[in-house]
Amino acid sequence: MMSNPTEGEDWWKSAVIYQIYPASFNDSDGDGFGDLRGIVQKLDYLTWLGVDAIWLSPIFQSPMFDMGYDVSDYLAIHPSFGNLEDFKELVSEAHKRKIRIILDLVLNHTSIEHPWFQESRLSENNPKRDWYIWRNGPTLRKPNNWKSLYGGSGWTYDKATRQYYFHTFFRQQPDLNWRNPELRSYFFSVMRFWLDLGIDGFRLDAINVLVKDPEFRDAQPSLLAQLLGKENYVTRNQPETYQIILELREVADEYKGIMLVGEIYTLPPGNHRLVASYLTNTVNLLHLAFNFSLIFSRWSAKRFSSIIGKWMDSIPVEAWPCNVLSNHDLNRSIGSDWLKSSSDDKAKVMATLLLTLKGTPFIYYGEEIAMRNAWIPKRKIKDPLGKRFWPIYQGRDCSRTPMRWNNSKNEGFSTGEPWLPVYSDNTERNVLNQMNYNNSILLFYHKLLALRKSSLCLLYGEWNACIIDGKNVLAYYRYTLEEKILIILNFSNRQRHIHLKDELDGCILISTHRRADEQIKATFIVLFPYESTVILIRTND
Ligand code: GLC
Ligand code: MG
Repeated sequence: MMSNPTEGEDWWKSAVIYQIYPASFNDSDGDGFGDLRGIVQKLDYLTWLGVDAIWLSPIFQSPMFDMGYDVSDYLAIHPSFGNLEDFKELVSEAHKRKIRIILDLVLNHTSIEHPWFQESRLSENNPKRDWYIWRNGPTLRKPNNWKSLYGGSGWTYDKATRQYYFHTFFRQQPDLNWRNPELRSYFFSVMRFWLDLGIDGFRLDAINVLVKDPEFRDAQPSLLAQLLGKENYVTRNQPETYQIILELREVADEYKGIMLVGEIYTLPPGNHRLVASYLTNTVNLLHLAFNFSLIFSRWSAKRFSSIIGKWMDSIPVEAWPCNVLSNHDLNRSIGSDWLKSSSDDKAKVMATLLLTLKGTPFIYYGEEIAMRNAWIPKRKIKDPLGKRFWPIYQGRDCSRTPMRWNNSKNEGFSTGEPWLPVYSDNTERNVLNQMNYNNSILLFYHKLLALRKSSLCLLYGEWNACIIDGKNVLAYYRYTLEEKILIILNFSNRQRHIHLKDELDGCILISTHRRADEQIKATFIVLFPYESTVILIRTND
């Protein structure tokens, strides 16, 4: 019998990874805030769905200015999520079900409330001074033109010592100085602390912004040039960052089967080569790196095809791609457009794409029930970005609303008042209802995950674009020496006629409109609106 491919050290290549936003997944104690015990209660659901690992957005102690991406103690769990015992239970219950646990590690900055920063700001000769980035400014001016990615200058003046500190994100998130060796080794010990508790990897937050230009030169080019496609090589993607990643990898490699996935922030999104430069087959950098270009793509088969082609081409030999449709920083993939009526069909097209591409798929919680991008009234907005930029930009709460489980109060998320409102656009759209509805998006996900797991060709096969009918139809092959699978996705809300070069001879594996196991032999196919069909091609052996 074939050994289970998800069990080896390369488990992450064949895994499907599910991102949980812990505050919004499941609340076990009725305080309106999701927690670790709540996640434990839903592990059987995740097993049923077929995921192999979960990535938890940050669960560490934090004042929650940026929902945990502002850590004030890397070795403690935030009390609203639970405690260390709860965490150990989560790891053990997940492992019993062969589900791995990935933690989110924020290395670029701490919370302003972290005791290190509190010390660092006291005086210029404080031992923690060098753990952050402090600079003098010329009279009445900031040290240089570096911007915060969240708006305004990246420099904030601190009265106590009359210097500025640098922050890539909010001023409540001062950047750490990764050139300090003591700080590095402290973080290596943080990693070992969690690895010793049995976790299976880390998602490395904003990892490519870790190191900044040592000479503090002004950022070139201008913000406009960056928006037009030029990367900022002064505060991001410094050569030393790659060096540090090697060291993080060394720590991970002290343990078996640990996976590191990096968030690589590029401007504009989809700088494939840059993302891929963090993956490599010659030295040990990251196992996986996010490329967000699918998220930003227009709804067009041609556009998707070109993005995927470029992404696949940029992956170094022996390195491995991963794919993602949405996350806690961006809009949900469904419902941020105006074509609402057809959205469930579109969700199936996207699901088929995500789960039949080459590379590790990441599913964002709720995507499997096509949870919509929510609209939140201004007074209920929690994300400081939303508060700052309303109404031009509503912030990130739209993709962070509570998971929808069943028809009870707050759709089963919590018996108390949820921290963000449940977005109930349609009463059908929860897990329980969709489990009992034949054509539901949830059951479609469930089947696709099972199919993927059972097919070495879908797990490991190469990817090759095949036929494209303008902006409407995307088709591609996955193939190994033994097998060939054709995936056809109709992006349009109309029937489409497809002419094939050679006669197609195969059998349906899964389809939104055709019966599984149905034989298909044709040179001409009429596709239904938004049809997704996966066909195993008959090979002459
Ligand atoms: C990453 C996170 C985002 C956070 C930022 C600062 O981009 O995904 O949520 O605000 O880093 O930590
Ligand atoms: Mg709770």
